[in-house]
Amino acid sequence: MKSVDALIERRLSSDVPLVRRIAEHIIGGGGKRLRPALVILSAGCFGYRGTAHHELAAVVEFIHTATLLHDDIVDESDLRRGAQTANARFGNAPSVLVGDFLYSRAFQMMVSVGNMRVMSILADATNSIAEGEVLQLINARNAAVSEEDYLAVVRRKTAKLFEAAAGIGAIIAGASLEDECLLSHYGLHVGTAFQLIDDVLDYCGDSEETGKSLGDDLSEGKPTLPLLRVIQNGTREQATLVRHAIETGGRADFEPVMQAIRDTDAIQYTREKAQSEASLACVGIERLKESPYRNSLLELAKFAVNRNH
Ligand code: IPE
Ligand code: IPE
Ligand code: MG
Ligand code: MG
Repeated sequence: MKSVDALIERRLSSDVPLVRRIAEHIIGGGGKRLRPALVILSAGCFGYRGTAHHELAAVVEFIHTATLLHDDIVDESDLRRGAQTANARFGNAPSVLVGDFLYSRAFQMMVSVGNMRVMSILADATNSIAEGEVLQLINARNAAVSEEDYLAVVRRKTAKLFEAAAGIGAIIAGASLEDECLLSHYGLHVGTAFQLIDDVLDYCGDSEETGKSLGDDLSEGKPTLPLLRVIQNGTREQATLVRHAIETGGRADFEPVMQAIRDTDAIQYTREKAQSEASLACVGIERLKESPYRNSLLELAKFAVNRNH
């Protein structure tokens, strides 16, 4: 991971000073680097000895970072990785454009690796994230979306990139198609668990730990699973309150909505869904030959569910 970070730093080079400044603001701000770790661990499961996995890990982190730059503008978020978001600090226009810089730099880098299947998977994942974010925008302030609609957004905006990261690690290491599928399946389900917990933490996280503001999802009127569960399983009054909060957006109803979330099984229900996704992810991985890489993947699935940050 140290090599990946050094590579990320090198690949940020640009002779346009603002590009570097903004890119370094967000990338230097830390982040868990989970997606690049997936590439490395997945390649490691199959004994990979080359260096292309470092390049691809950096590619995946650049794609992820570009989505964060754009997502924070759309979500009007002001805190990320414990610091001001790029849009809060530099404005929306430079953040959009540096997001584009990171996407296109990621494409240059994946071309340099030169594996057509890897390029195809990463192109599809990037496209899918964009679709997921647009779908989510359409669903905003709509309290009638189903759990299935919600999960369709989660798969596209988050799980697809986890799936791609795990899959390309296996491909670059020359794994069999069957093993590659195991890893992709693992990534898809861990990614889903990861976003379900992100949606829990938006209500009951500690901003000091997540490095993000709580309540952003309600502000945007996002019908995430904790809210959908209150509508499904709460009293008529609780359901009406939450429906109204989604439809109007903003933070005015944050406290009563929090109370309804606490008084129902909304969080427990969402956590259980995340847990079952993580378990599903691990079923295939357990069949792989035992190694520190495989064990770390199993750990990472647990972390996706039990994390506070
Ligand atoms: C944030 O992802 C966006 C989601 C998919 C929830 P991470 O929580 O992995 O963000 P960093 O990279 O660690 O900051
Ligand atoms: C994840 O959604 C964003 C992307 C995958 C592009 P969120 O909007 O929930 O992510 P955070 O909470 O801002 O990190
Ligand atoms: Mg967001
Ligand atoms: Mg979130």
